[in-house]
Parts: sequence; structure tokens; C-alpha cells
Amino acid sequence: MSDSSDSARLSRRAFVAASAVLGGALAVAPGALDAAPPPPASRMRGRRRDRRVEPLRILILGGTGFIGPHQVRYALARGHQVTIFNRGKTNPGLFDSRVEQLIGDRNAPAAEAYKSLAQRSWDVVIDNPSSLPKWVREASAVLAPRCDHYVFISTISVFSTYDRIGIAEDGPLHTPGDPNATAVTGPTYGPLKVRCEQEAMSAWGKKATIVRPGLIVGPGDLSDRFSYWPVRIEKGGDVLAPGTPDDPVQYVDARDLSEWIIRLAEENVTGTFNATGPKTPTTISEMLYGIKAVTGGDVRFTWCPADFLEQEKVRPWSDMPVWAPPKGGMVGFSRIDCRKAWGAGLTFRPLAQTAKDTLDWYHQQPADRQEKLRAGLAAAREVEVLTAWRSKTASR
Ligand SMILES: NC(=O)c1ccc[n+]([C@@H]2O[C@H](COP(=O)([O-])OP(=O)(O)OC[C@H]3O[C@@H](n4cnc5c(N)ncnc54)[C@H](OP(=O)(O)O)[C@@H]3O)[C@@H](O)[C@H]2O)c1
Repeated sequence: MSDSSDSARLSRRAFVAASAVLGGALAVAPGALDAAPPPPASRMRGRRRDRRVEPLRILILGGTGFIGPHQVRYALARGHQVTIFNRGKTNPGLFDSRVEQLIGDRNAPAAEAYKSLAQRSWDVVIDNPSSLPKWVREASAVLAPRCDHYVFISTISVFSTYDRIGIAEDGPLHTPGDPNATAVTGPTYGPLKVRCEQEAMSAWGKKATIVRPGLIVGPGDLSDRFSYWPVRIEKGGDVLAPGTPDDPVQYVDARDLSEWIIRLAEENVTGTFNATGPKTPTTISEMLYGIKAVTGGDVRFTWCPADFLEQEKVRPWSDMPVWAPPKGGMVGFSRIDCRKAWGAGLTFRPLAQTAKDTLDWYHQQPADRQEKLRAGLAAAREVEVLTAWRSKTASR
């Protein structure tokens, strides 16, 4: 495995310099190429040397949902050739002719589904949407013989418990889900991703990278599981804030994640990575006050303890996005150990940028989309809960 070594960082710098020369996409300081000494041959794979001078041919399975478009844009800017593979239903016409689109429905029988990929080869395959093991298995049967590297997007939901702080990549996993499942539900999502990871490893072995993101946030998120907060805080007034101000949170901006995935491809970095942040342990109050600093407005946070919220049937995560009370089997949920990914180059933009860009993106959405957030508390419900909290605390 070639994960977080210095040689990986050095060769990336060299690649960036070289691809700027080829593609004219990036500004490189004079002499940067000379300044980066070649990594020791013993720590490089044979084809890495070529990768530093040739743009990659990248196949993105999916590519038009949330993280896919960020990957595509970054890959193009780095001078790579990008092919996307999907049904053509989500965001048709999103990219110009620089992006090749191949069509297929992964729910169709395998011989039909992957027809457009047959006889083609790519340097890297990035599989974004798979949560069904059969999608991984069938795509791999077509692609593994002719492609050099497979990046599977998994999730930190593969862990069966978060009963300790600092769960690393070798943490306890769910029992793998049904290898032939044809649908994903809330409870089967984590187990099916575990099975998908196994399918990926069995088909690609040392050519596989497993990326396990935590909550992905930022522009383009259709779930609103972060967007709720900037949108709510921008409105101002009394804001229900969950738990205690010190409760931990973790999240990763889709752009930071996507750009890192492309750099993993460039570096041919394989292995398994928990992938969330920020690097500095962050609390819910830092997040909420940080968002407030961006949105401005007259906002007062009222902190309601987890037990009270439970009595009021205010659910962590969905009603109070990003937050889960750090107790019992969830004590380590927002304290996942991601040092391996950080060492392998996963970086984080400031919260202020994520919050502002999310808000800007949200305001560009159609009015009916903006009217109903897909996560968080409805305004009337928030008032009810705050009123209940005030009467409870007033009677003490
Ligand atoms: N959101 C989070 O917070 C979070 C956290 C942890 C992990 N994850 C994981 O991160 C990944 C996010 O993926 P994304 O949705 O952002 O990826 P994406 O590549 O941006 O979008 C999903 C793509 O899948 C394609 N697709 C859907 N059904 C298909 C089918 N039957 N056949 C072929 N293509 C199909 C869609 O296009 P068409 O509809 O046109 O086919 C679309 O291009 C997922 O694996 C998710 O489990 C997410």
C-alpha cells in the first residue's frame, strides 16, 4: 500500500507540475518541478512514473449527483480525461463535451447494464453510488481485468458500534449484508456497504481503495443534513440548539472529499480510509457560532439537553442535523479516527467557506425546493419545543 508516505506527497507535487505544463490548467511556481526530488524507486509502483507525465483516464461510475460533479470538475482542471457512467437521468447535460458519458442501468441484468463499458479500459474507476454488493461485483467483473485501480466510496456507517472514541479503520464492522440484495434500507445500508467493501477487495485486491466518508456537506447536497443550519441561522431569532455546546461533530465538505479522491487516484493510493473532519476536534457550538459568523443576523441559541429532546421526540441527526448525543453506543460517532486519511492528503477548507457556499447554492435552488428542507425541524415545531423547554425551566 502506498498511503501517506512522503514519497506520495512528493510525487503528487511533481504530477501537478507536469500536468500544468501539459494541460495549462494550473499555475506552478518556477522551478517547482526541479525542486521535487523523485521518490525512491523502491517506494513507487512501476506505472507511477508514467502517471506523473500522462493525464489519467478516469471512469466515474455515477458522476452527476452530489460528490460526482465535484470530482469531475477537479479532474478536468487537473488535465485528466473523464468518462462518466450512469442512466442519464440525474442532472442531464451537466457537463460539456470534454466529459464522455456512457449510459447503463446497474439494476438491469449485468450483460445489459455494463454493455457500454465493454472492451474499454481506464487507469482508474471511481465507484460513487454503489450500496448494493451486486453493483460492485458486476461492474468489477467487467472492469477489473482492464483497469488498474478501483476507488469504492463506502461510509463510516460500516461500523457496528461507536461505543468508543477514536475508531480507526480496523474498528468493528457490521455483519456483511445480503450479497444479492436488490434494495437498500436504513438498517441494511451499513451491512450492505460492508459486503460491497468485501466484493471490492475480492475483485481488485491490492488495486482497491476504500473511502469511508462521514457526513458529506456543502453545495449540491440534496439531503439538507448540514444545509439546515446555515439556512435556519440566516433566518435569525431563537434557534433550538441540541445537546450541550461541547458535543462533538464531524463532517466533510464534498469538495474536499472529492478533490482528495482524485488525488488518491493520481497517486495510486490504495487501502482503506475513514474520511471525515475537521482535523481539529470541533463541537456543535463551534459549528453553529461559526455559521452565525458567516450569516450575520440576530440569533440566540437555546441549548436543550439530549434527554429533553428525546422526550420531545426530536431526533438526533435528522431533526437536529450533524448532531448525535455522545453517549452509549454513539459516544464515538463524531470522534472517528481519520488520521490515516489526513496523512494521505485529505484537507479541509474553513467552515465559513462551506457555510457560505452552501447558503449561496441553496438560494439558487427553485423556490419550491427552498420552501421545504429535507432535514431539520419545521419552524412551527421548533417554536413548540422551545416553548416546552422554557416552561420546563421556568417551573424549576
Ligand atoms: N451523503 C453523505 O453524507 C454520505 C456519507 C457517507 C457516504 N456516502 C456515500 O457517498 C456516495 C455518494 O454518492 P453520490 O450520490 O454523491 O454520487 P454521484 O456519482 O455524484 O451521483 C450518483 C450517480 O449514480 C447514478 N445512478 C443512480 N442509479 C443508477 C443506476 N441504477 N445505474 C447507473 N447509475 C446510477 C446517478 O445518475 P442517474 O440517476 O442518471 O443514473 C448519479 O450519476 C454514496 O456511495 C454514499 O453511500 C454519502
